Amino acid sequence: MTNKRTLLILPGDGVGPEVMREVRRVIDWMDRRGLVSFDIGEDYVGGASIDARGVPITDETLARAEAADAVLFGAVGGPKWDNAGFDLRPELAILKLRKQLDLFANLRPALVLAPLVNASTLKPEVVRDLDLMIVRESTGGIYFGEPRGVETLPNGEQRGFDTESYTTGEIERVARIAFELARKRRNAVTSVEKANVMRSGLFWRQTVTALREREYPDVTLTHMYADNCAMQLVRNPRQFDVIVTSNMFGDLLSDLASMLTGSLGMLPSATLGLQDASGRRKALYEPIHGSAPDIAGKGLANPLAQILSFAMMLRYSFELEEEAALVERACTNVLASGLRTADIMAAGTARVGTNVMGESILRELDKIAP
Ligand code: NAD
Ligand code: IPM
Ligand code: MN
Repeated sequence: MTNKRTLLILPGDGVGPEVMREVRRVIDWMDRRGLVSFDIGEDYVGGASIDARGVPITDETLARAEAADAVLFGAVGGPKWDNAGFDLRPELAILKLRKQLDLFANLRPALVLAPLVNASTLKPEVVRDLDLMIVRESTGGIYFGEPRGVETLPNGEQRGFDTESYTTGEIERVARIAFELARKRRNAVTSVEKANVMRSGLFWRQTVTALREREYPDVTLTHMYADNCAMQLVRNPRQFDVIVTSNMFGDLLSDLASMLTGSLGMLPSATLGLQDASGRRKALYEPIHGSAPDIAGKGLANPLAQILSFAMMLRYSFELEEEAALVERACTNVLASGLRTADIMAAGTARVGTNVMGESILRELDKIAP
């Protein structure tokens, strides 16, 4: 069966294009097999867009992203653009995409694949079979709150400031995503904030509590302070099912959670908007890692987070559950065969680069495809 869907690919900077190349091969493989076809567009974002067009993302690129059925994003940023200025920094590309497309729910699953149980810096008995989902709010909070800036005070000193702010609607819509996901998993949500320090944190806690009483009384809800959550994630990560939290805390806690799975190079993500009347949901898929300037251009990057982000796209945007599972199984099998990129090396495994990892996944797909 052939289905044409529009897909916009935004490789970006650093290792972004390197890992995206491996996804393209998986997409081509699916096309050759007649499993699924995409109408693919590609565009510049981040530093690459600054170099080509003077801005981190153009309005045309944003419009193309809006029109696409799904967006696959690599990574942006790097030392070359460190002095681009705050209003021209490459990172604005991803922030603008999330904001303009209203992609408010950033789903960051931390899944410990069996072959990688020894790759984490934590003990295997702590992380074995871990399967947790962080739902990070991604269009609000201190990332976008106003006022923000730097002002000069009467005494001549300067003051830098940002604003954390959340409305009822912003909290409820992301909490609903978390509750709905929990119902399909182990039915437990942990809502994370600093209600003991931040006024907006207490408001978050009260709003999530009221929503649960009204709409999700069947789901277990617990509240946790963000600092304790960071500690609990390292102490006993399997206590969590779904974590729902603000933009900033979600950013921190998901990088932390990535190390439970072995490496930042393993964690995919999906960022979803609201469903429209026709049932269509805007969505962007990206690894949670950045452009990794320290290893860029060396062929060392782990392409799995990007490939697994593509698998999330198959599942969430196109309801291609079997195809998503096929890609995920190919990744797990290749890891089980003992191949590793440098970031997930362990004793007794063989080190390969980005390219060979991608090739091995294609060979595995050939082997296991129905
Ligand atoms: P980073 O995620 O790029 O790298 C952190 C560490 O993880 C580095 O040691 C890197 O080598 C390693 N790493 C990351 N991805 C890897 C992969 N696929 N395989 C193996 N190792 C990997 O974070 P950083 O160094 O703090 O930031 C670098 C740049 O990336 C900055 O400009 C930052 O703003 C940007 N960034 C962008 C995104 C994004 O585009 N979504 C996300 C995070 C950071
Ligand atoms: C992420 C990144 C981004 C964020 C940056 C690049 C703006 O760290 O996607 O986790 O902070 O959201
Ligand atoms: Mn981050």
